Amino acid sequence: MTVALRQLDRRSAVVAREELADLLIGAVGNGASVGFLWPLDRVAVADYWRQVFASLCDDFFLWVAEVDERVVGAVQLARCTKQNGRHRAELQKLFVHSAYRGRGIAARLLAAAEAQAREIGCTLLVLDTEAGSPAESVYRHLGWRKSGEIPMYAGKPSGELIPTAYYYKLIGPAPSPLQLVRPAREHLESYVNALKTGWSQNNLRPEAGREALEEVEKDPDTFLALQIDREAKGGPVKMPNGGEVPRLPGYILWMWDGEFCGTIGFRWQPGTPELPPHTLGHIGYAVVPWKRQLGYAKRALALMLEHAREESLPHVEITCDTDNVASQRTIVANGGVLVERFTPPPICGPGEKLRYRIVMKA
Ligand SMILES: CC(C)(COP(=O)(O)OP(=O)(O)OC[C@H]1O[C@@H](n2cnc3c(N)ncnc32)[C@H](O)[C@@H]1OP(=O)(O)O)[C@@H](O)C(=O)NCCC(=O)NCCS
Repeated sequence: MTVALRQLDRRSAVVAREELADLLIGAVGNGASVGFLWPLDRVAVADYWRQVFASLCDDFFLWVAEVDERVVGAVQLARCTKQNGRHRAELQKLFVHSAYRGRGIAARLLAAAEAQAREIGCTLLVLDTEAGSPAESVYRHLGWRKSGEIPMYAGKPSGELIPTAYYYKLIGPAPSPLQLVRPAREHLESYVNALKTGWSQNNLRPEAGREALEEVEKDPDTFLALQIDREAKGGPVKMPNGGEVPRLPGYILWMWDGEFCGTIGFRWQPGTPELPPHTLGHIGYAVVPWKRQLGYAKRALALMLEHAREESLPHVEITCDTDNVASQRTIVANGGVLVERFTPPPICGPGEKLRYRIVMKA
């Protein structure tokens, strides 16, 4: 079976109008939630395609997949026309005829749309689709990331309201590999922007984000200098229950991929791997929500363990909440072994924690 892909202009689209109408009617008849209710009026379908054809331009594209010169699939790409959204385009109405599914036609249509989006300078693709539909696994397989679902968003052809899933794919130049950087003036603007979203690097004290912002605004150089604090000059540490404890020697490095991605801190008591009971681990980290699930925490911890070797500790401990699966996986991926489930002192706030140990290799 040979599949040919063709981008249609207004004239060639009009020629394909009956086949496109059949494709759409077939999809809706099979229960696809693509904007129409069943039974579908052929006049409404013709009107829909007429509008699509009239919209074809430098910002709006339509492809068909053909087998033996018959249309068996289609997809549309709409570049955002708003001034501040020219970098993004939306994939719309991906259809593959039911008799031709499972043969890679959707992937080829999506690849054509993606190539066009890159060519016109877009760096972000977005789409929405019925949550739980087979299309979701196609998008995921092709590198799309899910950002969420909205319940009862659209109607099935039967009228039943169903949730819609939102996906995106970044197609711009790949960010540079994650590094740990010593916090410096050149990184400050990106860090401040992250704090201004309400993010806090301290997951036990959400207010720590606002406090950091105030400190940066008051005296950025002092703030930056105190991120590396091997002599524990920074004053007492505020705890989740409002109390304070003496600071340990330590430092905080920033995760950086061309932008600020998160923080990772290391603290210790000189000459011993022991920590005071209220100190929850030698290493703590947090990734900003929009850079999560990119492997950054895993890589940041691996990089931090290399720095930590310089303190000649036989092992380091990391603790996390019992339900923090992402952190547990991050630790285990770096050689962490679960030591115990424990209840920290009340000054650390409520809840049980897990304690992991990572043996430091020479
Ligand atoms: C925990 C945290 C740092 C993980 O950051 P991240 O950069 O998204 O993590 P990574 O992409 O490196 O993923 C690490 C592992 O966790 C898994 N993971 C990530 N997010 C997950 C999630 N929401 N649910 C389940 N697993 C998840 C990844 O698949 C990976 O595991 P794998 O190698 O077995 O596949 C981040 O969620 C965060 O900042 N949370 C708030 C602060 C926090 O909890 N810090 C840790 C305190 S102990």
